[in-house]
Amino acid sequence: MNRIVLTIMSTLAASAAIVVAGAYAFVNSGLYDVSATTPDSQLVYWVAHQTMEHSIARRLGQNIVPAGLDAPVTIAAGGALYVKNCMVCHGAPQVDRTAISKGLNPQPPNLFLATRKPDAAENFQFIKHGVKMSGMPGFAGTMTDDQVWSLVAFLNMLPGQNSADFEQITRTEIAPGLPATGKGG
Ligand code: HEC
Repeated sequence: MNRIVLTIMSTLAASAAIVVAGAYAFVNSGLYDVSATTPDSQLVYWVAHQTMEHSIARRLGQNIVPAGLDAPVTIAAGGALYVKNCMVCHGAPQVDRTAISKGLNPQPPNLFLATRKPDAAENFQFIKHGVKMSGMPGFAGTMTDDQVWSLVAFLNMLPGQNSADFEQITRTEIAPGLPATGKGG
């Protein structure tokens, strides 16, 4: 091996060792603030969000959307599951968000916005497997695929939904609203 190649190799090895040692020192320093109450820097938000979007997109192939998601009985089954498992974070129309929902970072998206276009395969992925380090739980261990699909069916109905629609589908009285505790609640 000639001298130039050797110099390049040893410089690369030394640089890699410095990077690893630096990363190790940073992790152990406690400098990075993990508090949910501290907003993410734009860089951290971008890295986390891009990683999530691409990870979800890569795993959609196996989620074959079944027929019949528009059946009222399926939507109602999803509605009941939503009230029990999702409403605490994702809320309901015209209802104050809970303290739990307000305290999360990242914030749970508002699934009722009229402009949303639900993607069934994607929603199935989110619900079945969740998202690490975000608060979005994975329900693979506690729900059957049919139950997850019923939630997907319900989510298809959410954009633009008002409280009367919500109460009718879920048979859940939401007015006067979930108690929202604390500041401004
Ligand atoms: C403990 C709070 C919490 C609960 C409970 C919860 N979620 Fe979430 N959910 C989140 C958060 C936070 C995100 C945002 C994840 C991110 O952006 O990294 C999210 C994201 C999602 C998304 C992706 C939305 C998008 O397009 O960006 C869907 C769909 C979803 N949740 C559906 C549900 C359903 C259905 C349930 C109940 C079965 C549920 N969630 C329960 C906190 C929660």
